[in-house]
Amino acid sequence: MKTEIGLERPAHFKEDWPGMYDVFSHFEYVAGVPQPLFLITTLKENGNVNACFQGWSAFSGDADGFYAVIPGCWTLSHTYKNILRDKEFCVNFMSAGYYGACKKTIEANGEDNDELEAAGLTAEASKTVRPPRVKEAFLSYECKLHSDIDLSGKGKTRLVIGRVTMAAIGDKKDYMYYINYRKDPVTGEGPSHGTVAALTPIM
Ligand SMILES: Cc1cc2nc3c(=O)[nH]c(=O)nc-3n(C[C@H](O)[C@H](O)[C@H](O)COP(=O)(O)O)c2cc1C
Repeated sequence: MKTEIGLERPAHFKEDWPGMYDVFSHFEYVAGVPQPLFLITTLKENGNVNACFQGWSAFSGDADGFYAVIPGCWTLSHTYKNILRDKEFCVNFMSAGYYGACKKTIEANGEDNDELEAAGLTAEASKTVRPPRVKEAFLSYECKLHSDIDLSGKGKTRLVIGRVTMAAIGDKKDYMYYINYRKDPVTGEGPSHGTVAALTPIM
């Protein structure tokens, strides 16, 4: 039997932290859809490199354009501010072994930080945009801002779409995935933190 959950958050879905359901939809926690993890690099106003570990996206397009489709870009993040100002960014896919370095970009997050340097990563000049790629990434997409949409109209998160203008491809390694936690839809019980996995090919 399937459990159906609609637009209204069920009362038994309790917050794990104050404001959780102001930030995230309850639909997030009935699914836990795995999402590739990557680092977005932008430039701060003072020229320092900003890096943001990001976990919601799709990459697709057609012959006339290939796009990085990034919903859930926090309006208050430095990344969003930088993209809005400069209209360009890079998406960098890192092997699972760089998980610790990616997390460090969240800790060293001030205006004075070069966030790649602080995380022990290396900036590599891009060809079509100003923000650098990450040298250690096995794939980087250079992107120019295509559109920026406030899907819910509440100003909390944005759907940022970048048109890919260059791909830099190294040796393909393991994609990192974020698997958000999933509550039992009937009881609301379940873990209170997500997990990170590396993609293992099955054929
Ligand atoms: C696994 C993981 C996934 C994340 N995914 C996102 C995301 O999709 N969107 C977002 O805005 N922040 C996401 N974050 C949080 C940002 O990495 C964090 O807020 C960061 O400090 C923002 O940096 P900035 O202010 O320099 O842009 C994620 C963090 C982790 C650990």
